[in-house]
Amino acid sequence: MPSPFSPIKISDSLSAKNRIIRSATNDHLGNRDATVSDAQIEMYDVLARNEIGTIITGHLSVDPDIANRADIVQLSIGDDSYIEGLKRIPEKIHQYGALAVAQISHAGPRGLNPIDFNELTTDEMTRIAEWMIDGAVRAQKAGFDAVEIHAAHWYLLASVLNADLNRRTDRYGGDAAGRIRIVTDIVRGIRQRCGDSFGIFVKVNAHNTLPGVDDLDMLIDYAKHLYDAGIDLLEVSGMSFAKQPKDAQCYFIDYAQAVKKALPQLTVALVGGIYSRDTIDRTLEAVDMAAMGRTLLTQPDFIVKMRDENLEKSRCIRCNKCFEVFKTKYERCIFGPVNPKLEETFGDK
Ligand SMILES: Cc1cc2nc3c(=O)[nH]c(=O)nc-3n(C[C@H](O)[C@H](O)[C@H](O)COP(=O)(O)O)c2cc1C
Ligand code: SF4
Repeated sequence: MPSPFSPIKISDSLSAKNRIIRSATNDHLGNRDATVSDAQIEMYDVLARNEIGTIITGHLSVDPDIANRADIVQLSIGDDSYIEGLKRIPEKIHQYGALAVAQISHAGPRGLNPIDFNELTTDEMTRIAEWMIDGAVRAQKAGFDAVEIHAAHWYLLASVLNADLNRRTDRYGGDAAGRIRIVTDIVRGIRQRCGDSFGIFVKVNAHNTLPGVDDLDMLIDYAKHLYDAGIDLLEVSGMSFAKQPKDAQCYFIDYAQAVKKALPQLTVALVGGIYSRDTIDRTLEAVDMAAMGRTLLTQPDFIVKMRDENLEKSRCIRCNKCFEVFKTKYERCIFGPVNPKLEETFGDK
């Protein structure tokens, strides 16, 4: 098993200094006009300074209309005017030698103006795919090393991939090849416009049916289509991460491992339920990279402490209050200030 601190070649043109990923985590610290805030730059400084090799931003909205964002402080990448502000994120992350990845997303049914993708025309679906590609082009112009297409957690693309939710009969529905087509179209479009050296990651749900069905073959099928389209990394997640028992570990590891076995050439990362040295090691026995959300939210220095002070386990108790606390304060975890400089600088909301 490779050490979590050993370098990794993700693709021919992309290498990371270690195998740890900060999975995309909405920080709710953006400005209301969808631009990058000083608080966010401070947050990325702390993450990158603490030796996380690959840092994926919180989801960035590709819809040109910010009324269709996921929340009122979500950042936008839906217009060229945002490029200048977004440049500050990779600039900061690169100071510490980490990879900077922009997560691009359309909120779809989970937006401020929920959209039912089954009601959209074929042209409207194609237009959303084009917005995703435009978003990736802007991310590249802003200096990011890669984008991650958000196709997990019941936002628009994850919903299209779900065999039980997708009732479309056009090129974006039907069988697995039809359901994944919008994502493979986006991947091919990004590759064409951003070139071979720009990284393309995709985050997907392990399960793509409603609960209770063994849908492992479907995930492998999707992964094959994505690999053929030219992705560099697949991050396996799952919508049910917030409903797992508190002591559950590496929630989707069987699914991620099966993808790795089916496609050994593809770099595979697992996210969900990784919060200790043990769970990182277990993950790296099965796949290539270990991605974390809540562990690094509450302890951005977890990896450094694990390496230098033999810290075994994160303090995160998986209470999921990080989906609420930010609403009243510049705090993101029940344990209070994650980064005292933030609270000191910005105070209560
Ligand atoms: C506050 C919060 C915000 C999140 N925002 C995003 C996001 O913007 N994009 C995304 O793909 N996942 C997001 N996630 C999910 C995480 O990336 C991760 O998949 C999930 O927390 C499970 O991993 P964990 O057990 O390491 O926390 C978020 C999670 C939390 C707790
Ligand atoms: S609020 Fe709870 S789940 Fe979220 S990071 Fe803090 S301890 Fe973990």
